[in-house]
Amino acid sequence: MSAIILNGKSFGARLRERVAEHVAGLKTEGVVPGLAVVLVGEDPASQIYVRNKGIAVKEAGMNGWEYRMPAETSEADLLAKVEELNNDPAVHGILVQLPLPKHMDDTKVINAIAPEKDVDGFHILNVGKLATGQKAMVSCTPLGCLLLLRDHLGDLSGKEAVVIGRSNIVGKPMAQLLLGESCTVTIAHSRTKDIAEVVRRADIVVAAVGRPMMVQADWIKPGATVIDVGINRIPAPEKGEGKTRVVGDVDFESVVEVAGAITPVPGGVGPLTIACLLANTVTAACRAHGLPEPEGLAV
Ligand code: GUN
Repeated sequence: MSAIILNGKSFGARLRERVAEHVAGLKTEGVVPGLAVVLVGEDPASQIYVRNKGIAVKEAGMNGWEYRMPAETSEADLLAKVEELNNDPAVHGILVQLPLPKHMDDTKVINAIAPEKDVDGFHILNVGKLATGQKAMVSCTPLGCLLLLRDHLGDLSGKEAVVIGRSNIVGKPMAQLLLGESCTVTIAHSRTKDIAEVVRRADIVVAAVGRPMMVQADWIKPGATVIDVGINRIPAPEKGEGKTRVVGDVDFESVVEVAGAITPVPGGVGPLTIACLLANTVTAACRAHGLPEPEGLAV
C-alpha cells in the first residue's frame, strides 16, 4: 500500500497564512515584525535563498531589510553591522546567511547576534535553552519538521524516533525537539553499526545526512512516518546530457510502498524552513513587546 504524501507546500502555505494573520493582529498594536538578513559575498545559492526570504517577509506583511556586504568585508565590519542590528528596536530577527567567507569565524559571528533576535536558533544560548527544555528560538528546518509531525500524528509521546544525521543545524536540534515531545530518540550517523536495523525500530524517521537516496525500503517499519530533509542534486541523463534532478536522502520510490506517510523531495520539508523563519520572527517580535505569541508556531 502506498504512503500518504505529506505535502509541505500546502502545509507551509497554511503556516504562512497563520503568520500573516498574527502579523495583521500585531499591526493593530502598533508592532510590525522586522527581519534583517545579512549576506556577505556573492555565493549564487545564498543569493537565491536571501531573495526568497525577502519576498516571503514582504508577503507576510512584515518589514524586511537586506544588507549585502562584499566578500572582502572584514570580520570586524560584519560584527559592527550585527551590533547595529542588535541595537535597532525595529529589527526583531537577524539572520546572517551561512556559509561566511573563509576568513570569518561563523561561530563567533552567530554568537554575536542578540539571542532573542537569533531567528535561526543557532546561537549557543538558544541551543542550550532547547537542550534544557526552556523557551528558545529553534532552528527553522527541524521546527518545520516537528510542526508537520504534530499535524500528521498528533501526540508524539512514547513513539520511537530515529534521526539520521548529527548536524548542529538539523540532526541535533531535531533530536532535542522529539525528546521534548517525549519520543524515545536515537541519533544514527555514519559510524552507526547496522543502521538499517536501528532505523527499522522507528515509528518516526527523520533523514538529514545529505546522501542521495540512502534510506531504503527494507530500513523502514511498515506504517512509519518518514521525513526527508535531504536536498541532493544528482545527474539525470534521462532528462538530457548534463541535466540534473533533486532527490532526498530517502529512496522515495521504494519507501513510499512501505511507509505510512512520507515527505517528497522537492515539495516536502523545503517550504517549511522559510515558513518557520517567518514564524520565529513573529515570535521574537511578540516576546520583545510582551505580547501573546502565535499558538503552535514555537516551542
Ligand atoms: N544557509 C543555508 N541555509 C541557511 C539557514 O537556514 N540559515 C542561515 N543563516 N544560513 C543558511
